[in-house]
Amino acid sequence: MSELINNYQSGYSLGQSFYTNDDIYQKEIENIFLKHWIFVGHASQIPEHGDFFLFEFDQESIIITRTKTGEINALLNVCRHRGSHICLEKKGNTKSLICPYHAWSYNLDGKLLAARNMNDDFDKSANGLHRVHLELIGGLIFISLAEKPLSLKSMQADLKDTFDLFGFDKMKLIKQNTYHIRANWKLAVENYQECYHCTPSHREYSEIHAAALPPAKRNQHLEAYLKTKTNAVRTRSCDCYFDLANEGEEGYQYSREPLLPGMKSGTAGGIAASRLLGNITDYDGAASDLMIGPLSFFLIYDDHMVGYRFMPLSIAKCVCDIFWFVHEAAEEGNDYDLKELTWLWDVTTQADEEIVANNQKGVNSHFYRPGKLSEMEGFQQHFLNWYLKVLKP
Ligand code: FES
Ligand code: FE
Repeated sequence: MSELINNYQSGYSLGQSFYTNDDIYQKEIENIFLKHWIFVGHASQIPEHGDFFLFEFDQESIIITRTKTGEINALLNVCRHRGSHICLEKKGNTKSLICPYHAWSYNLDGKLLAARNMNDDFDKSANGLHRVHLELIGGLIFISLAEKPLSLKSMQADLKDTFDLFGFDKMKLIKQNTYHIRANWKLAVENYQECYHCTPSHREYSEIHAAALPPAKRNQHLEAYLKTKTNAVRTRSCDCYFDLANEGEEGYQYSREPLLPGMKSGTAGGIAASRLLGNITDYDGAASDLMIGPLSFFLIYDDHMVGYRFMPLSIAKCVCDIFWFVHEAAEEGNDYDLKELTWLWDVTTQADEEIVANNQKGVNSHFYRPGKLSEMEGFQQHFLNWYLKVLKP
């Protein structure tokens, strides 16, 4: 693996093995998915005591629960008896978690309540479900499967004003879609990180966002936008992502990008989509890119937010989950139309599903060789630098 990593030529795409070799995939699971913070969902998905949902990828299954006291917990869905999955439903409401195999039962905070016919000296208190590190950012639920998770302190401090401005604690999730992509997870993430493909592949997106323009034109729009008298918290940028993150800390990034002139939001024709988020008082013709950890991305329009998460199911299959958020007081029918609001990223992700799967087909060929990246793939290059660094034995 060291040889493969050392042979990588900066400015080019990765070699085939990175997308097809199972040893590399196992290393990715260990060094990325079991180490970094992952966005798993939103508090509004489990509003009542006893509500739960599963978050699953590769071989892992995690139960996110709401306890009697209102606390949100993340528990490994692996029975402490002989390891069976306990929770088989994807979501629901329950008083306790009962293993379907020998019926050990657990509380919603993971405590073992009962284990049938075990000897008197069996210590129930030492056999609760393993808890997973959990952090709430507003209502967004993040988990880390690491024993000692990466610190989120700098991110929390640095982005506090941003979270307040967009009202992260006053949003609700109105829709989640899962897109199954027949490709290695990195091809999906790389695709998300560059807009070189936007003009040919995403006509709808390119009619709304300036990010699809060639660099010189995009910069003209950006400079013009930054000269407008918009809120400083909204327009700031911070770059602590991927290889730029501090040692021991989770990476994050925030920046604001203009939309095309006259566009207000990510809708057909750029028309307003819902009531304004948080403390936003007007449209400024732009949208923010936010990244927390290497796998969770958010695009914040002034009136709604879209979350994107990429997770592997196996080496050759991954899923992209898209989440749509609005102000918690927004009402469907009055403030927003669900179809209008979800249209852009549904149509865009359906197109990505196809182009990324086609990318994998070609990468699988005996004749595939790494190709030269363009200037518009600079962010993707940061991802690749970081990726190779975390993969090093
Ligand atoms: Fe769960 Fe036996 S494996 S009770
Ligand atoms: Fe795309």
